[in-house]
Amino acid sequence: MRILVIGTGGREHALARKLATEGGTEVHAAPGNPGIAAVATLHDVDPLDGAAVADLAESLGADLVVVGPEAPLVAGVADVVRDRGIAVFGPSKAAAMLEGSKAFSKEVMEAAGVPTARSFTCTTPEEAVAALDEFGPPYVVKDDGLAAGKGVVVTPDREAALAHAAACERVVIEEYLDGPEVSLFAVCGHDGSGVSAWPLQPAQDFKRIFDGDGGANTGGMGSYSPLTWAPAGLTDEVMETVVRPTLEEMERRGTPFTGLLFVGLALTSRGPRVVEFNARFGDPETQSLMPLLASPLAPVLWESATGAGLTSEPSFSAEAAVTVVLASAGYPEGSSKGDVITGVEDAERLDGVHVIHAGTALDDDGRLVTAGGRVLAVVGTGTDLEEARATAYAAVRLIHFDGAQHRTDIALRAAAGALR
Ligand code: AMP
Ligand code: GLY
Repeated sequence: MRILVIGTGGREHALARKLATEGGTEVHAAPGNPGIAAVATLHDVDPLDGAAVADLAESLGADLVVVGPEAPLVAGVADVVRDRGIAVFGPSKAAAMLEGSKAFSKEVMEAAGVPTARSFTCTTPEEAVAALDEFGPPYVVKDDGLAAGKGVVVTPDREAALAHAAACERVVIEEYLDGPEVSLFAVCGHDGSGVSAWPLQPAQDFKRIFDGDGGANTGGMGSYSPLTWAPAGLTDEVMETVVRPTLEEMERRGTPFTGLLFVGLALTSRGPRVVEFNARFGDPETQSLMPLLASPLAPVLWESATGAGLTSEPSFSAEAAVTVVLASAGYPEGSSKGDVITGVEDAERLDGVHVIHAGTALDDDGRLVTAGGRVLAVVGTGTDLEEARATAYAAVRLIHFDGAQHRTDIALRAAAGALR
């Protein structure tokens, strides 16, 4: 199967790396990055230009296109490729609105009876004030549209909450959800008999820039799986109370969701509540999940893309994986380009280590340099979280670039058995 992966980040590297290890696959990527170049043939393309992506897929004779990031999905790139008769993993533009508009996703959740935070969608300062005062602090204010992980403000400060609301055209203001967060991914398909979905193993992401969940929200500073502390039956419960009703509601609206439904959850004292939906694999959760996925990925993506019906149930090894993100100076407010990166090869020589590239480039002298906010994701695997964590951090210590930032507490509490 000839597969074209669209995107430039760590998620796409993790997917391409997994696909490349599977027999019978030939992996291409566009635009890709220097890490992806080691596992796939790279091509140049504007990921947001559906016709250009479809032209590339046609010229390669691709059997399957996998669209990694949300922006092309929300822009309708999957529709253009699908209209050319090429199988594509990823939702239509209409279905990707589950991620593209917070207000829309809330509307679908309400119609489907999915447990989530109570919320108001507001377009005027008066509505925002009323909503904030209805819920009280801590305040949760979400830009309605795509904002690359930076559209959500959670704050005890009413003025800051109002300022964020005023800076956005339309916001969702909702009640604060307390409890550990979990990311559950479901591969969704649609065949003649209706919707179906396979869950992947739950993972946890660390959103804040600093240790102890301090500082600003980021795209994600690390992840791990499995969640040794999560209640038994969590996956089944979420499939039953969230994924199935959401897929049924989307089908009822005539816009069935296929591809990857990312359910971001808070495990509250009243049970799991949805914090957000995304319409694609999570980053950096995918970096932790792919090395644990024991069954091949390509058939699952293919079945979702073609509407053949889902038959290839994903299975996971008993190992654990911990991913630590190395970010460049200034992240998340900005980022630093051109800092020379050393030690990646030394890190990869360690047992159980591989290094995923996100914001990297090669400079004119062929040196690996930073080229974005999140630069690398260092993945350690082991028999349990403690071993995976020790392995990941041993590798992190070997990698250097000016201004490098990382959290030192990824999976710390889980590995120590300190979570419930
Ligand atoms: P989102 O983009 O909706 O996932 O929000 C980004 C982050 O903000 C989440 O991962 C949570 O850490 C936090 N967040 C979002 N909604 C809520 C909520 N209702 N209560 C508490 N924290 C939230
Ligand atoms: N890790 C969170 C996200 O991909 O949105």
